[in-house]
Amino acid sequence: MNELRTLDSLPGPRGWPVLGNFPQVDFRRFHLQLEEWAEQYGDRYRMSFGPKKFMVTCEPGLAQELLKDRPDRFGRQLSIESVFDELGFNGVFSAERDNWRRQRRVVTTALNSAHLNRSFEAMRETTGRLERRWRRAARQGDVLDLPRELMRYTVDITTQLAFGIDFNTLETEGNIIQDDLDRVFPILSGRLGAPLPWWRWFRLPKDHALERSVHSVQTRIGEIIRECRARLAARPELRESPENFLEAMIVAQEAEQLPFTDRDIMANVFTLLLAGEDTTANTLAWAIKMFMDHPQVFEAVRAEVDARLGSDTIPMSYGQASDFPLMDAFANETMRLKPVAPLLIFGVKSETVLGDILLPAGSSVALLARRLATREAHFHHADQFQPERWLAAHAGEGVHNPRAFIPFGGGPRYCPGRNLALLEIRLVLAMVCRNFEFALAGSDLPVNESFAFTMGPENLLVRLSLRQ
Ligand code: HEM
Repeated sequence: MNELRTLDSLPGPRGWPVLGNFPQVDFRRFHLQLEEWAEQYGDRYRMSFGPKKFMVTCEPGLAQELLKDRPDRFGRQLSIESVFDELGFNGVFSAERDNWRRQRRVVTTALNSAHLNRSFEAMRETTGRLERRWRRAARQGDVLDLPRELMRYTVDITTQLAFGIDFNTLETEGNIIQDDLDRVFPILSGRLGAPLPWWRWFRLPKDHALERSVHSVQTRIGEIIRECRARLAARPELRESPENFLEAMIVAQEAEQLPFTDRDIMANVFTLLLAGEDTTANTLAWAIKMFMDHPQVFEAVRAEVDARLGSDTIPMSYGQASDFPLMDAFANETMRLKPVAPLLIFGVKSETVLGDILLPAGSSVALLARRLATREAHFHHADQFQPERWLAAHAGEGVHNPRAFIPFGGGPRYCPGRNLALLEIRLVLAMVCRNFEFALAGSDLPVNESFAFTMGPENLLVRLSLRQ
Protein backbone atom coordinates (compact mmCIF):
# COMPACT_ATOMS: atom_id res chain seq x y z
CA MET A 1 0.00 0.00 0.00
CA ASN A 2 1.26 3.48 -0.89
CA GLU A 3 2.24 5.70 1.97
CA LEU A 4 -0.18 8.52 2.72
CA ARG A 5 0.81 12.08 1.99
CA THR A 6 -0.56 15.19 3.63
CA LEU A 7 -2.28 17.94 1.72
CA ASP A 8 0.47 20.35 2.76
CA SER A 9 3.10 18.10 1.17
CA LEU A 10 1.67 18.67 -2.33
CA PRO A 11 3.33 21.23 -4.58
CA GLY A 12 1.45 24.46 -5.15
CA PRO A 13 1.68 28.22 -5.62
CA ARG A 14 3.37 30.08 -2.80
CA GLY A 15 0.83 32.20 -0.96
CA TRP A 16 0.82 35.29 1.22
CA PRO A 17 1.10 35.06 5.00
CA VAL A 18 -2.36 34.54 6.59
CA LEU A 19 -4.36 35.09 3.35
CA GLY A 20 -2.62 32.35 1.37
CA ASN A 21 -3.37 32.47 -2.37
CA PHE A 22 -6.52 34.57 -2.02
CA PRO A 23 -4.92 37.89 -3.10
CA GLN A 24 -3.47 36.20 -6.21
CA VAL A 25 -6.88 35.24 -7.59
CA ASP A 26 -9.09 37.40 -9.76
CA PHE A 27 -12.43 35.64 -9.30
CA ARG A 28 -13.62 36.64 -12.79
CA ARG A 29 -10.90 34.32 -14.14
CA PHE A 30 -10.83 31.86 -11.26
CA HIS A 31 -10.99 28.75 -13.49
CA LEU A 32 -8.21 30.04 -15.77
CA GLN A 33 -5.96 30.73 -12.80
CA LEU A 34 -6.48 27.22 -11.44
CA GLU A 35 -5.87 25.73 -14.89
CA GLU A 36 -2.65 27.75 -15.23
CA TRP A 37 -1.45 26.51 -11.85
CA ALA A 38 -2.22 22.94 -12.97
CA GLU A 39 0.16 23.50 -15.92
CA GLN A 40 2.82 24.53 -13.43
CA TYR A 41 2.23 22.20 -10.49
CA GLY A 42 0.61 19.16 -12.09
CA ASP A 43 -2.64 17.23 -11.71
CA ARG A 44 -2.63 17.32 -7.90
CA TYR A 45 -1.65 20.48 -6.14
CA ARG A 46 -2.60 22.49 -3.07
CA MET A 47 -3.68 26.07 -2.50
CA SER A 48 -5.27 27.98 0.36
CA PHE A 49 -7.56 30.94 0.91
CA GLY A 50 -6.83 32.06 4.47
CA PRO A 51 -7.65 29.10 6.72
CA LYS A 52 -9.41 27.25 3.85
CA LYS A 53 -7.21 24.53 2.36
CA PHE A 54 -7.78 23.09 -1.11
CA MET A 55 -6.51 20.15 -3.08
CA VAL A 56 -6.86 20.83 -6.82
CA THR A 57 -7.02 17.87 -9.17
CA CYS A 58 -8.06 16.71 -12.64
CA GLU A 59 -7.49 12.97 -12.38
CA PRO A 60 -10.42 10.91 -13.72
CA GLY A 61 -10.26 8.25 -10.97
CA LEU A 62 -10.43 10.89 -8.25
CA ALA A 63 -13.16 12.73 -10.15
CA GLN A 64 -15.40 9.65 -10.13
CA GLU A 65 -14.79 9.09 -6.41
CA LEU A 66 -15.63 12.72 -5.59
CA LEU A 67 -18.78 12.71 -7.68
CA LYS A 68 -20.05 9.37 -6.37
CA ASP A 69 -19.40 9.59 -2.64
CA ARG A 70 -21.98 12.25 -1.94
CA PRO A 71 -23.72 13.49 0.10
CA ASP A 72 -22.09 11.67 3.02
CA ARG A 73 -18.32 11.73 2.37
CA PHE A 74 -18.11 14.81 0.16
CA GLY A 75 -20.51 17.73 -0.07
CA ARG A 76 -20.70 21.00 -1.89
CA GLN A 77 -18.28 23.77 -1.05
CA LEU A 78 -18.34 24.00 2.74
CA SER A 79 -19.41 27.62 3.06
CA ILE A 80 -22.24 27.25 0.54
CA GLU A 81 -25.09 26.26 2.88
CA SER A 82 -24.54 29.21 5.21
CA VAL A 83 -23.87 31.73 2.41
CA PHE A 84 -26.99 30.65 0.50
CA ASP A 85 -29.09 30.31 3.64
CA GLU A 86 -28.47 33.86 4.82
CA LEU A 87 -29.78 35.06 1.43
CA GLY A 88 -32.78 32.74 1.70
CA PHE A 89 -31.97 30.30 -1.09
CA ASN A 90 -30.60 27.22 0.56
CA GLY A 91 -32.41 24.88 -1.85
CA VAL A 92 -31.47 21.58 -3.45
CA PHE A 93 -28.19 22.87 -4.95
CA SER A 94 -26.67 23.86 -1.62
CA ALA A 95 -28.50 21.60 0.87
CA GLU A 96 -26.73 18.65 2.46
CA ARG A 97 -27.62 15.19 3.80
CA ASP A 98 -31.36 14.55 4.55
CA ASN A 99 -32.28 18.12 3.77
CA TRP A 100 -30.85 17.55 0.29
CA ARG A 101 -32.41 14.06 -0.15
CA ARG A 102 -36.02 15.15 0.34
CA GLN A 103 -35.67 18.18 -1.92
CA ARG A 104 -33.82 16.26 -4.62
CA ARG A 105 -36.69 13.79 -5.08
CA VAL A 106 -39.23 16.50 -5.87
CA VAL A 107 -36.87 18.36 -8.20
CA THR A 108 -35.87 15.32 -10.27
CA THR A 109 -39.51 14.25 -10.69
CA ALA A 110 -40.51 17.74 -11.79
CA LEU A 111 -37.79 17.83 -14.46
CA ASN A 112 -38.16 14.28 -15.80
CA SER A 113 -38.79 13.39 -19.45
CA ALA A 114 -42.52 12.77 -19.01
CA HIS A 115 -42.89 16.28 -17.70
CA LEU A 116 -40.74 17.73 -20.48
CA ASN A 117 -42.87 15.91 -23.02
CA ARG A 118 -46.05 17.45 -21.54
CA SER A 119 -44.49 20.93 -21.55
CA PHE A 120 -43.19 20.70 -25.11
CA GLU A 121 -45.87 22.91 -26.68
CA ALA A 122 -45.16 25.75 -24.23
CA MET A 123 -41.43 25.45 -24.94
CA ARG A 124 -42.09 25.53 -28.64
CA GLU A 125 -44.20 28.67 -28.23
CA THR A 126 -41.41 30.37 -26.24
CA THR A 127 -38.86 29.42 -28.90
CA GLY A 128 -41.22 31.03 -31.42
CA ARG A 129 -41.12 34.26 -29.40
CA LEU A 130 -37.33 34.25 -29.50
CA GLU A 131 -37.49 33.68 -33.24
CA ARG A 132 -39.84 36.65 -33.75
CA ARG A 133 -37.74 38.87 -31.47
CA TRP A 134 -34.57 38.03 -33.37
CA ARG A 135 -36.17 38.37 -36.81
CA ARG A 136 -37.17 41.88 -35.80
CA ALA A 137 -33.63 42.59 -34.53
CA ALA A 138 -32.19 41.29 -37.81
CA ARG A 139 -34.46 43.54 -39.88
CA GLN A 140 -33.56 46.56 -37.72
CA GLY A 141 -29.82 45.78 -37.69
CA ASP A 142 -29.76 45.80 -33.85
CA VAL A 143 -26.65 44.77 -31.96
CA LEU A 144 -27.55 42.09 -29.40
CA ASP A 145 -25.82 41.08 -26.20
CA LEU A 146 -26.17 37.38 -26.93
CA PRO A 147 -25.97 35.88 -23.40
CA ARG A 148 -28.46 38.46 -22.08
CA GLU A 149 -30.87 37.70 -24.90
CA LEU A 150 -30.65 34.00 -24.20
CA MET A 151 -31.21 34.55 -20.48
CA ARG A 152 -34.62 35.98 -21.33
CA TYR A 153 -35.34 32.70 -23.08
CA THR A 154 -34.05 30.40 -20.32
CA VAL A 155 -35.86 32.26 -17.52
CA ASP A 156 -39.12 32.17 -19.49
CA ILE A 157 -38.73 28.43 -20.03
CA THR A 158 -37.82 27.67 -16.40
CA THR A 159 -40.68 29.68 -14.95
CA GLN A 160 -43.21 28.07 -17.27
CA LEU A 161 -41.97 24.56 -16.76
CA ALA A 162 -41.17 24.62 -13.06
CA PHE A 163 -43.70 27.12 -11.70
CA GLY A 164 -46.52 27.19 -14.26
CA ILE A 165 -46.05 30.96 -14.80
CA ASP A 166 -45.40 32.69 -18.09
CA PHE A 167 -43.09 35.64 -17.37
CA ASN A 168 -42.70 36.32 -21.07
CA THR A 169 -39.63 38.51 -20.60
CA LEU A 170 -38.91 37.94 -24.30
CA GLU A 171 -41.80 40.24 -25.12
CA THR A 172 -41.37 42.59 -22.16
CA GLU A 173 -39.61 45.93 -22.30
CA GLY A 174 -38.05 47.61 -19.27
CA ASN A 175 -37.15 45.95 -15.97
CA ILE A 176 -37.08 42.20 -15.99
CA ILE A 177 -36.23 39.67 -13.30
CA GLN A 178 -32.91 38.87 -15.05
CA ASP A 179 -31.62 42.34 -14.08
CA ASP A 180 -31.82 41.30 -10.44
CA LEU A 181 -30.61 37.74 -10.99
CA ASP A 182 -27.57 39.15 -12.80
CA ARG A 183 -26.37 40.84 -9.65
CA VAL A 184 -26.50 37.63 -7.64
CA PHE A 185 -23.89 35.39 -9.30
CA PRO A 186 -20.76 37.56 -9.26
CA ILE A 187 -21.23 38.46 -5.60
CA LEU A 188 -22.01 34.88 -4.61
CA SER A 189 -18.89 33.71 -6.36
CA GLY A 190 -16.76 36.19 -4.38
CA ARG A 191 -18.45 35.32 -1.06
CA LEU A 192 -17.93 31.59 -1.54
CA GLY A 193 -14.21 32.09 -2.15
CA ALA A 194 -13.67 34.64 0.64
CA PRO A 195 -11.33 33.47 3.42
CA LEU A 196 -13.65 35.02 6.03
CA PRO A 197 -17.31 36.14 5.89
CA TRP A 198 -16.41 39.83 6.12
CA TRP A 199 -19.82 41.00 4.78
CA ARG A 200 -21.34 39.83 8.09
CA TRP A 201 -19.37 42.59 9.83
CA PHE A 202 -19.40 45.39 7.28
CA ARG A 203 -21.24 45.85 4.01
CA LEU A 204 -20.07 47.43 0.81
CA PRO A 205 -22.42 49.13 -1.67
CA LYS A 206 -22.39 45.93 -3.76
CA ASP A 207 -23.68 43.96 -0.74
CA HIS A 208 -26.57 46.37 -0.33
CA ALA A 209 -27.28 46.07 -4.07
CA LEU A 210 -27.27 42.28 -3.74
CA GLU A 211 -29.75 42.39 -0.86
CA ARG A 212 -32.05 44.73 -2.80
CA SER A 213 -31.96 42.38 -5.78
CA VAL A 214 -32.59 39.31 -3.64
CA HIS A 215 -35.49 41.08 -1.95
CA SER A 216 -36.97 42.07 -5.30
CA VAL A 217 -36.74 38.50 -6.65
CA GLN A 218 -38.23 37.15 -3.41
CA THR A 219 -41.18 39.52 -3.70
CA ARG A 220 -41.83 38.19 -7.20
CA ILE A 221 -41.43 34.60 -6.00
CA GLY A 222 -43.88 35.31 -3.16
CA GLU A 223 -46.45 36.35 -5.80
CA ILE A 224 -45.76 33.21 -7.83
CA ILE A 225 -46.32 31.03 -4.76
CA ARG A 226 -49.58 32.81 -3.95
CA GLU A 227 -50.78 32.38 -7.54
CA CYS A 228 -49.91 28.71 -7.36
CA ARG A 229 -51.83 28.20 -4.09
CA ALA A 230 -54.84 29.93 -5.68
CA ARG A 231 -54.58 27.63 -8.72
CA LEU A 232 -54.52 24.57 -6.46
CA ALA A 233 -57.58 25.84 -4.60
CA ALA A 234 -59.45 26.44 -7.87
CA ARG A 235 -58.48 23.09 -9.39
CA PRO A 236 -58.33 20.51 -6.56
CA GLU A 237 -57.66 17.72 -9.09
CA LEU A 238 -54.11 19.13 -9.40
CA ARG A 239 -53.41 17.76 -5.92
CA GLU A 240 -53.63 14.24 -7.38
CA SER A 241 -51.19 14.95 -10.18
CA PRO A 242 -49.34 18.25 -9.82
CA GLU A 243 -48.33 19.72 -13.16
CA ASN A 244 -45.09 21.38 -12.12
CA PHE A 245 -42.40 21.55 -9.49
CA LEU A 246 -43.98 24.32 -7.44
CA GLU A 247 -47.36 22.59 -7.27
CA ALA A 248 -45.62 19.35 -6.25
CA MET A 249 -43.77 21.09 -3.41
CA ILE A 250 -46.86 22.87 -2.11
CA VAL A 251 -48.98 19.70 -2.29
CA ALA A 252 -46.26 17.77 -0.43
CA GLN A 253 -46.07 20.51 2.18
CA GLU A 254 -49.81 20.55 2.75
CA ALA A 255 -50.05 16.78 2.89
CA GLU A 256 -47.13 16.80 5.33
CA GLN A 257 -45.56 13.89 3.45
CA LEU A 258 -42.34 15.85 3.32
CA PRO A 259 -41.75 18.55 5.87
CA PHE A 260 -41.14 21.49 3.53
CA THR A 261 -41.25 24.91 5.08
CA ASP A 262 -42.30 28.07 3.21
CA ARG A 263 -38.61 28.99 3.30
CA ASP A 264 -37.71 25.69 1.55
CA ILE A 265 -40.22 26.41 -1.19
CA MET A 266 -38.98 29.96 -1.68
CA ALA A 267 -35.36 28.73 -1.65
CA ASN A 268 -35.98 26.11 -4.32
CA VAL A 269 -37.86 28.43 -6.62
CA PHE A 270 -34.87 30.77 -6.37
CA THR A 271 -32.46 27.87 -6.88
CA LEU A 272 -34.16 26.68 -10.05
CA LEU A 273 -34.26 30.22 -11.41
CA LEU A 274 -30.53 30.58 -10.80
CA ALA A 275 -29.58 27.05 -11.87
CA GLY A 276 -31.63 27.19 -15.05
CA GLU A 277 -30.73 30.70 -16.23
CA ASP A 278 -27.02 31.33 -16.77
CA THR A 279 -26.02 27.71 -17.34
CA THR A 280 -28.17 27.06 -20.39
CA ALA A 281 -27.99 30.62 -21.73
CA ASN A 282 -24.19 30.66 -21.58
CA THR A 283 -23.96 27.20 -23.15
CA LEU A 284 -26.17 28.40 -26.01
CA ALA A 285 -24.14 31.60 -26.36
CA TRP A 286 -20.91 29.58 -26.60
CA ALA A 287 -22.56 27.26 -29.13
CA ILE A 288 -23.51 30.18 -31.38
CA LYS A 289 -19.97 31.54 -31.01
CA MET A 290 -18.72 28.11 -32.16
CA PHE A 291 -21.05 28.35 -35.18
CA MET A 292 -19.40 31.69 -36.01
CA ASP A 293 -15.88 30.31 -35.55
CA HIS A 294 -16.53 27.09 -37.51
CA PRO A 295 -18.70 27.95 -40.54
CA GLN A 296 -18.30 24.50 -42.08
CA VAL A 297 -19.63 22.86 -38.95
CA PHE A 298 -22.49 25.38 -38.92
CA GLU A 299 -23.38 24.38 -42.49
CA ALA A 300 -23.28 20.67 -41.63
CA VAL A 301 -25.55 21.09 -38.57
CA ARG A 302 -27.81 23.31 -40.65
CA ALA A 303 -28.09 20.61 -43.32
CA GLU A 304 -29.15 18.10 -40.65
CA VAL A 305 -31.80 20.51 -39.34
CA ASP A 306 -33.07 21.34 -42.85
CA ALA A 307 -33.41 17.66 -43.70
CA ARG A 308 -35.46 16.95 -40.60
CA LEU A 309 -37.65 20.06 -40.34
CA GLY A 310 -38.80 20.54 -43.92
CA SER A 311 -40.59 23.88 -43.99
CA ASP A 312 -40.82 24.24 -40.17
CA THR A 313 -38.44 26.47 -38.28
CA ILE A 314 -38.84 24.82 -34.87
CA PRO A 315 -39.12 21.07 -34.11
CA MET A 316 -42.76 19.98 -33.97
CA SER A 317 -42.56 17.34 -31.23
CA TYR A 318 -40.39 16.17 -28.36
CA GLY A 319 -39.52 13.09 -30.45
CA GLN A 320 -38.44 15.18 -33.42
CA ALA A 321 -36.41 17.49 -31.19
CA SER A 322 -34.56 14.50 -29.80
CA ASP A 323 -33.32 13.33 -33.19
CA PHE A 324 -30.41 15.58 -34.17
CA PRO A 325 -27.28 13.40 -33.80
CA LEU A 326 -24.87 15.92 -35.36
CA MET A 327 -26.32 18.82 -33.38
CA ASP A 328 -25.97 16.80 -30.16
CA ALA A 329 -22.36 16.03 -31.09
CA PHE A 330 -21.82 19.75 -31.74
CA ALA A 331 -23.35 20.63 -28.34
CA ASN A 332 -21.14 18.07 -26.58
CA GLU A 333 -18.04 19.44 -28.24
CA THR A 334 -19.04 22.99 -27.27
CA MET A 335 -19.47 21.89 -23.65
CA ARG A 336 -16.16 20.00 -23.73
CA LEU A 337 -14.20 23.13 -24.68
CA LYS A 338 -16.46 25.81 -23.18
CA PRO A 339 -18.15 24.18 -20.16
CA VAL A 340 -20.15 26.64 -18.10
CA ALA A 341 -19.01 24.67 -15.04
CA PRO A 342 -15.27 24.40 -15.76
CA LEU A 343 -14.60 23.41 -12.16
CA LEU A 344 -16.55 21.78 -9.35
CA ILE A 345 -15.76 22.24 -5.68
CA PHE A 346 -16.31 19.57 -3.03
CA GLY A 347 -16.22 19.95 0.75
CA VAL A 348 -14.59 17.19 2.82
CA LYS A 349 -16.98 16.31 5.63
CA SER A 350 -14.66 14.29 7.83
CA GLU A 351 -11.02 13.27 7.51
CA THR A 352 -10.60 11.03 4.48
CA VAL A 353 -8.09 9.71 1.96
CA LEU A 354 -8.38 10.64 -1.72
CA GLY A 355 -5.81 8.93 -3.93
CA ASP A 356 -2.95 8.78 -1.46
CA ILE A 357 -3.65 12.20 0.03
CA LEU A 358 -4.94 12.56 3.57
CA LEU A 359 -7.56 15.31 3.51
CA PRO A 360 -8.52 16.91 6.81
CA ALA A 361 -12.18 17.54 7.68
CA GLY A 362 -13.16 21.00 6.50
CA SER A 363 -10.74 21.05 3.57
CA SER A 364 -11.98 21.25 -0.04
CA VAL A 365 -11.20 19.66 -3.38
CA ALA A 366 -11.44 21.64 -6.63
CA LEU A 367 -11.98 19.35 -9.60
CA LEU A 368 -10.86 20.95 -12.87
CA ALA A 369 -13.58 19.54 -15.09
CA ARG A 370 -12.51 21.32 -18.27
CA ARG A 371 -8.88 20.33 -17.89
CA LEU A 372 -10.03 16.73 -17.45
CA ALA A 373 -11.88 16.88 -20.77
CA THR A 374 -9.09 18.60 -22.68
CA ARG A 375 -6.22 16.20 -22.02
CA GLU A 376 -4.73 14.13 -24.85
CA ALA A 377 -4.91 11.17 -22.45
CA HIS A 378 -8.73 11.29 -22.73
CA PHE A 379 -9.54 12.79 -26.13
CA HIS A 380 -7.41 12.72 -29.27
CA HIS A 381 -6.57 16.16 -30.70
CA ALA A 382 -8.00 17.36 -27.42
CA ASP A 383 -7.59 21.08 -28.07
CA GLN A 384 -9.38 20.94 -31.43
CA PHE A 385 -13.08 21.50 -32.05
CA GLN A 386 -14.17 18.22 -33.67
CA PRO A 387 -17.88 17.48 -33.08
CA GLU A 388 -17.70 14.29 -35.18
CA ARG A 389 -15.70 12.61 -32.40
CA TRP A 390 -19.05 12.14 -30.61
CA LEU A 391 -20.75 10.35 -33.53
CA ALA A 392 -21.18 6.58 -33.45
CA ALA A 393 -19.73 6.39 -36.97
CA HIS A 394 -16.39 7.67 -35.64
CA ALA A 395 -16.22 5.37 -32.59
CA GLY A 396 -12.80 3.82 -32.17
CA GLU A 397 -10.95 6.62 -33.99
CA GLY A 398 -8.42 7.71 -31.41
CA VAL A 399 -8.75 8.11 -27.67
CA HIS A 400 -12.27 8.96 -26.51
CA ASN A 401 -13.06 8.71 -22.82
CA PRO A 402 -16.61 9.93 -22.04
CA ARG A 403 -15.91 9.46 -18.30
CA ALA A 404 -13.60 12.46 -18.57
CA PHE A 405 -16.49 14.59 -19.87
CA ILE A 406 -18.65 15.83 -16.99
CA PRO A 407 -20.37 19.08 -18.03
CA PHE A 408 -23.40 18.14 -15.89
CA GLY A 409 -21.41 16.66 -13.00
CA GLY A 410 -22.12 13.06 -12.03
CA GLY A 411 -23.16 10.63 -9.29
CA PRO A 412 -26.14 11.25 -7.01
CA ARG A 413 -25.97 15.03 -7.40
CA TYR A 414 -25.67 15.18 -11.19
CA CYS A 415 -27.61 18.01 -12.78
CA PRO A 416 -31.36 17.23 -12.70
CA GLY A 417 -31.92 19.92 -15.36
CA ARG A 418 -29.75 18.14 -17.95
CA ASN A 419 -32.61 16.89 -20.14
CA LEU A 420 -34.38 20.23 -19.99
CA ALA A 421 -31.16 22.04 -20.91
CA LEU A 422 -30.50 19.69 -23.83
CA LEU A 423 -34.04 20.19 -25.10
CA GLU A 424 -33.67 23.99 -24.90
CA ILE A 425 -30.35 23.74 -26.73
CA ARG A 426 -31.87 21.67 -29.55
CA LEU A 427 -34.90 23.94 -29.93
CA VAL A 428 -32.87 27.15 -30.04
CA LEU A 429 -30.09 25.83 -32.28
CA ALA A 430 -32.59 24.32 -34.72
CA MET A 431 -34.46 27.64 -34.85
CA VAL A 432 -31.14 29.51 -35.30
CA CYS A 433 -30.02 27.21 -38.13
CA ARG A 434 -33.27 27.73 -40.00
CA ASN A 435 -33.30 31.53 -39.67
CA PHE A 436 -30.07 33.37 -39.05
CA GLU A 437 -26.48 34.25 -39.79
CA PHE A 438 -24.38 35.81 -37.02
CA ALA A 439 -21.47 38.25 -37.02
CA LEU A 440 -19.57 39.79 -34.13
CA ALA A 441 -20.46 43.44 -33.68
CA GLY A 442 -20.14 46.43 -31.50
CA SER A 443 -16.59 46.38 -30.23
CA ASP A 444 -13.08 45.17 -30.91
CA LEU A 445 -12.80 43.65 -27.47
CA PRO A 446 -11.99 39.94 -27.53
CA VAL A 447 -14.69 37.49 -26.44
CA ASN A 448 -13.30 36.38 -23.07
CA GLU A 449 -14.24 33.68 -20.63
CA SER A 450 -15.70 35.28 -17.53
CA PHE A 451 -16.36 33.29 -14.36
CA ALA A 452 -19.19 34.26 -12.05
CA PHE A 453 -20.32 30.97 -10.54
CA THR A 454 -20.84 29.86 -14.16
CA MET A 455 -18.42 30.58 -17.00
CA GLY A 456 -19.85 32.67 -19.81
CA PRO A 457 -18.63 34.75 -22.75
CA GLU A 458 -17.84 38.40 -22.08
CA ASN A 459 -18.20 40.93 -24.95
CA LEU A 460 -20.28 38.61 -27.11
CA LEU A 461 -22.18 41.26 -29.03
CA VAL A 462 -23.64 40.13 -32.34
CA ARG A 463 -25.54 41.39 -35.34
CA LEU A 464 -28.00 38.99 -36.92
CA SER A 465 -29.02 38.77 -40.52
CA LEU A 466 -31.77 36.67 -42.02
CA ARG A 467 -30.64 33.53 -43.78
CA GLN A 468 -30.85 33.90 -47.54
C1 HEM B 1 -26.37 23.50 -20.09
C2 HEM B 1 -27.01 23.73 -18.97
C3 HEM B 1 -26.60 23.22 -17.62
C4 HEM B 1 -25.38 22.80 -17.18
C5 HEM B 1 -24.08 22.71 -17.97
C6 HEM B 1 -25.55 22.42 -15.79
C7 HEM B 1 -24.52 21.94 -15.00
C8 HEM B 1 -24.68 21.56 -13.69
C9 HEM B 1 -23.62 21.04 -12.87
C10 HEM B 1 -22.18 20.83 -13.29
C11 HEM B 1 -24.16 20.76 -11.65
C12 HEM B 1 -23.43 20.15 -10.46
C13 HEM B 1 -23.57 18.65 -10.58
C14 HEM B 1 -22.78 17.85 -9.58
O1 HEM B 1 -22.48 18.37 -8.50
O2 HEM B 1 -22.47 16.68 -9.89
C15 HEM B 1 -25.56 21.11 -11.69
C16 HEM B 1 -26.44 20.97 -10.63
C17 HEM B 1 -27.75 21.36 -10.68
N1 HEM B 1 -28.45 21.83 -11.77
FE1 HEM B 1 -27.68 22.13 -13.63
N2 HEM B 1 -26.85 22.63 -15.42
C18 HEM B 1 -27.54 23.10 -16.50
C19 HEM B 1 -28.88 23.42 -16.56
C20 HEM B 1 -29.76 23.28 -15.53
C21 HEM B 1 -31.19 23.57 -15.59
C22 HEM B 1 -31.92 24.02 -16.85
C23 HEM B 1 -31.71 23.35 -14.36
C24 HEM B 1 -33.13 23.48 -13.87
C25 HEM B 1 -33.98 24.37 -14.25
C26 HEM B 1 -30.62 22.90 -13.51
C27 HEM B 1 -30.76 22.59 -12.19
C28 HEM B 1 -29.73 22.10 -11.39
C29 HEM B 1 -29.90 21.78 -9.98
C30 HEM B 1 -31.20 21.92 -9.17
C31 HEM B 1 -28.66 21.31 -9.54
C32 HEM B 1 -28.31 20.83 -8.12
C33 HEM B 1 -28.45 19.31 -8.02
C34 HEM B 1 -28.11 18.75 -6.65
O3 HEM B 1 -27.30 19.32 -5.94
O4 HEM B 1 -28.66 17.69 -6.32
N3 HEM B 1 -29.47 22.87 -14.25
N4 HEM B 1 -25.87 21.59 -12.95
